[in-house]
Amino acid sequence: MNLTFLPPLNASLNLLSTVLLCGGFYFARRHDIERHKACMAGAVISSVIFLTSYLIYHYHHGATPYRGTGFKRTLYFSILISHTALAGIILPFIFFTIKRAIKGEIERHRRLARVTLPMWLYVSITGVVVYLMLYRLPQ
Ligand code: HEM
Repeated sequence: MNLTFLPPLNASLNLLSTVLLCGGFYFARRHDIERHKACMAGAVISSVIFLTSYLIYHYHHGATPYRGTGFKRTLYFSILISHTALAGIILPFIFFTIKRAIKGEIERHRRLARVTLPMWLYVSITGVVVYLMLYRLPQ
C-alpha cells in the first residue's frame, strides 16, 4: 500500500495542533473559557489522530534515514532526539492538566498548564521541522 501521503498529513496535524494550542492560550488569557476549551479539545483530537497515523506509517514503512552530514546532521538529530524525548513523557502532563481543569482545580490547572503548554508546543513545532528537514529541504 502506498502510504507516502502520511508524512505530509502528519506534519499538517502537528501544525494544526500548534495553531490550536496558541489559540487556546490566547483565549485562556482573555478568560474566554468556552473557546479555550474548544481549542484545547481540538489540539487533543488532532494529536490523537497524528499519533495513530504516525504509528501506522512507521509500522509499515520503518524509519526514513537522514542523509545530511556535518552541522545539518547534528542539528537534525538534536531536534529529533529532544522532540522524541519530550513526546515520550508529555502524555501524563496533558492528562493531569485536563483532569485538573475538569475537576475545577483551576489554580492547579493553570500552574501545571504553564509547564504542559510549552512542552506540547515544542513537540508539535519540532514535528513540523523534522518533517521539513527530512522530506522537503535539501539535505
Ligand atoms: C491540555 C489542555 C489544556 C491546556 C494546555 C491548558 C492551558 C491553560 C493555560 C496555559 C492557562 C493559563 C493561562 C494564563 O496564563 O492565565 C489555562 C487556564 C485555564 N484553563 Fe486551561 N488548558 C487546557 C485545558 C482546559 C480545559 C479542558 C478546561 C475546561 C474544562 C480549561 C479551563 C481553564 C480555565 C478555567 C483557566 C483559567 C482562565 C482564567 O484565568 O480565567 N483548560 N489553561
